Amino acid sequence: MDTQAILRAYRRYARVYDLLFGAIFHPGREFIIRSLGARSGERILEVGVGTGLSLPLYPEHVKVTGIDISKHMLDIARKRVERMALQQVEGVMEMDAQNMSFRDSSFDKVVAMYVVSVVPDPIALIDEIRRVCKPGGDIYIVNHFRARNPLLAMAESLLSPISKLVGFRPDLDLDRFLEESGLDLVETHNVNLFGYWKLLRCRNREAVAFNPSEPAEQSP
Ligand SMILES: C[S@@+](CC[C@H](N)C(=O)[O-])C[C@H]1O[C@@H](n2cnc3c(N)ncnc32)[C@H](O)[C@@H]1O
Repeated sequence: MDTQAILRAYRRYARVYDLLFGAIFHPGREFIIRSLGARSGERILEVGVGTGLSLPLYPEHVKVTGIDISKHMLDIARKRVERMALQQVEGVMEMDAQNMSFRDSSFDKVVAMYVVSVVPDPIALIDEIRRVCKPGGDIYIVNHFRARNPLLAMAESLLSPISKLVGFRPDLDLDRFLEESGLDLVETHNVNLFGYWKLLRCRNREAVAFNPSEPAEQSP
């Protein structure tokens, strides 16, 4: 996956995205937003917000910012926000989630729905998400990961060469992703059709405080 292939894929998808992926991905979107437990005024970032199908689901007492790399997907999201007069949406912005212009610790919670296996570098995405999320804040991810069933996993590997065309990578390995991203997994649920997608709630690690009174480790 590279950025140009992603932009091309989502320019093609934009007009038909809601029809193709609206209903099938909806349980995962609803599950995450129901689980947020966000307090009044909390700032939530949704990366890869797409056509904004999730935006009407957020409660009115939070402040949501959506970003996406595809202008064509965002055009539809903006129209939705306007048409539905969504007060909870602070803005939808064109931005690469792997290189965001927000300051460190800008958001209480960050949500990534069906985007981890779309970006060129999932670990760079998580590094950026952890940077803009407050320490101790929640990070919610819903995504398809490589199936544990060997036959399905083989079928997914066969699909892998056409990932540029379809706009996502079908064989991202969950264990490796968790290990490399350094995310602290709090809970996981299977969601959507046949429980084929995984919802992960993770905690953004608190920075480890440096204690100058502790003696530094001596080298032999
Ligand atoms: C499968 S769609 C998911 C859209 C939406 N989250 C949903 O629930 O339907 C993936 C989205 O991620 C966006 N995307 C891909 N790479 C991105 C990046 N580097 N930064 C921000 N958005 C990105 C795509 O443009 C697309 O809108």
